Amino acid sequence: MQTATAIAHPNIALVKYWGKRSVALNLPAVPSLSITLDSFRTRTQVVWGVDADAVHVDGSPAPAAFAKRVTDFLDLMSPNRPGCMVLTENNFPSGAGLASSASGFAALAVAANRAAGRHDDRTALSIMARRGSGSACRSLFGGFSEWKLGSRPDGSDSHAVPVASPNYWAVAMVVAVVTERAKAVGSTEGMERSRTTSPFYPSWVETTPGDVEKAREAVYERDLEALGQVMERSTLKMHGVMMSSDPPLLYWLPGTLAVLHEVGDLRRQGIGAWATMDAGPQVKVLCMHQDAERVVEAIKPHVRRIHVLRPGPGAFIDDEE
Ligand code: DP6
Repeated sequence: MQTATAIAHPNIALVKYWGKRSVALNLPAVPSLSITLDSFRTRTQVVWGVDADAVHVDGSPAPAAFAKRVTDFLDLMSPNRPGCMVLTENNFPSGAGLASSASGFAALAVAANRAAGRHDDRTALSIMARRGSGSACRSLFGGFSEWKLGSRPDGSDSHAVPVASPNYWAVAMVVAVVTERAKAVGSTEGMERSRTTSPFYPSWVETTPGDVEKAREAVYERDLEALGQVMERSTLKMHGVMMSSDPPLLYWLPGTLAVLHEVGDLRRQGIGAWATMDAGPQVKVLCMHQDAERVVEAIKPHVRRIHVLRPGPGAFIDDEE
């Protein structure tokens, strides 16, 4: 019996992943670029070699669908594996619009890999985490990371790579929680709907690699305006694709739009702030850390809760057991 515990943080895409070229291998149709955050985290312990599989979330037995996703992932990692016990907990609310599947599968991949006695190969772990949930492959790395599209049919070159470390640039993500209601259509289903029905999908796939290039350059140059502009463009393009899917995927609420307009007003007042939204109504605002309080004050009237997060580390083994 071997035990290992890992911690991983969620990430927010600046240039978004939306659409798959292979559902079976979970291969993206576009590259993407993200920031891994600090403070919010998933902590996962894996006991490798017990009589029967068991999965617990936040101290209680996991719902069956969640437990199956976890054990299917362990089967992928190690087809002839023994029984495993997985204990996982999040220190952040699931309604925060921060994909807990990203930090969840990154932490699970790192902990299970160590418990199985394998060495920590980040690229292999990023590929593995991608199979659990695409965005998870980016949480293997801290700070800014890019998920390479890759071209090999087996997906062995579709993984994240580091772009800049967490302390490279003092930016912040202000996470504005507009509603705590669960989202209507999950990412996996939504992406397939967009791929098969949105007339805008082909241009999304065609233009996103150029957005990633621009975003990467902007990070290297520490050019917040360039990064903010390409980030907002990417999210608005993605939501254009979502809204033009059939049936439409309309994730925004009135509060979403109110925050978007506040962010535009902040810019007109000279504060560098840009917004991004994922498959839900929450808005995440990118700004310099020193401007975060101004952003919070401006958007507070429209939202239920606000979290200010900074770039954080990639997934790691937690030795404090
Ligand atoms: C809108 O990684 O949750 O947040 O690979 O199907 O598990 P699956 O999807 P997931 O999708 C994330 C989509 C997004 C944009 C992004 O994080 O890049």
